[in-house]
Amino acid sequence: MSLVPMRVLLDHAAENGYGVGAFNVNNMEQIQSIMMAAVETNSPVIVQASRGARSYSQDNYLRHLMLAAAELNPQIPIAMHQDHGNSAETCFSAIDQGFTSVMMDGSLQADGKSPSSYEYNVDVTKKVVDKAHALGVTVEAEIGCLGGIEDGHGAGLTGDEALAHLTDPDEAERFVADTHCDALAVAIGTSHGAYKFTTKPGDDVLKMDLIEEIHSRLPNTHLVMHGSSSVPAELIAIINQYGGEMPETYGVPVEAIQQGIKHGVRKINVDTDNRLAITGAIRKVFAESPGKFDPRDYLKPARVAMAEVVKARMIAFGQAGWGDKVPVKSLD
Ligand code: G3H
Ligand code: 13P
Ligand code: ZN
Repeated sequence: MSLVPMRVLLDHAAENGYGVGAFNVNNMEQIQSIMMAAVETNSPVIVQASRGARSYSQDNYLRHLMLAAAELNPQIPIAMHQDHGNSAETCFSAIDQGFTSVMMDGSLQADGKSPSSYEYNVDVTKKVVDKAHALGVTVEAEIGCLGGIEDGHGAGLTGDEALAHLTDPDEAERFVADTHCDALAVAIGTSHGAYKFTTKPGDDVLKMDLIEEIHSRLPNTHLVMHGSSSVPAELIAIINQYGGEMPETYGVPVEAIQQGIKHGVRKINVDTDNRLAITGAIRKVFAESPGKFDPRDYLKPARVAMAEVVKARMIAFGQAGWGDKVPVKSLD
């Protein structure tokens, strides 16, 4: 069993009106959590690795772990995706390492921080599309810039500056015609990380109407929502109960994502919720059993806690039940 291009999963999701969660991984346990949830719910899978994840885990480990996931679960179609590629070279090295899908995020310059020009974005995305499509590899691109945190990949935009970088539907339409990307990440008010909103987000900050407008212009382009963790209060509460210090914060309500799925959203990026689940589970073991020192004593509950979150998202996004029904095509 080999990994499948992400386009195969997104096309099937579009034909059947569901969304597919794309979960970030950095190690074996996170991959195992996703596969546990996928097997339990019979879901197709998108696993994604950021540049930071690739350097943390090393490409070779990651490649073999992903091949192990495919070998152990032949009934589940799995796509392996580069999250937020900052340059064509990053995307090409991912393809060399067996990734079946890449995100060329040309909305930012190669530093992964500074918003770029439309022309730069088209040029670099087209360069990746030309090579990737010749090999059957899927390409996600981004138009508009996500708001949010300074850490990691992102411009750290807030307030009016973030509003000015929301996706413009005219530009989105032109961009897809200019690049022929398979999937398009749009900026609609979400941001990466745990601190997205200080109150429950309403229509004023989370612009779901923009999704509807973009989808009506681009009915055949798979839309992607980044920064889609829901930041559940109960996961923050567990972390704080066992010695953590996280202030009150709000994420993207699952119902808003479900509304997006009705309007062309096919890929939903979730990382933070899994980080919260893992950290809460590990803190609990450390607090309740300070004598324990075998990593399995805390990594096992951490793995289960992440699997529970992934399972809930797979059910909510509608991908549950479709795992063995996707007509599978490998890169070959
Ligand atoms: O793009 C954001 C993802 O949560 C990955 O984060 O760059 O810290 O691995 P990272
Ligand atoms: P979260 O930080 O909301 O989980 O978003 C992850 C993401 O968009 C990865 O590209
Ligand atoms: Zn992202």
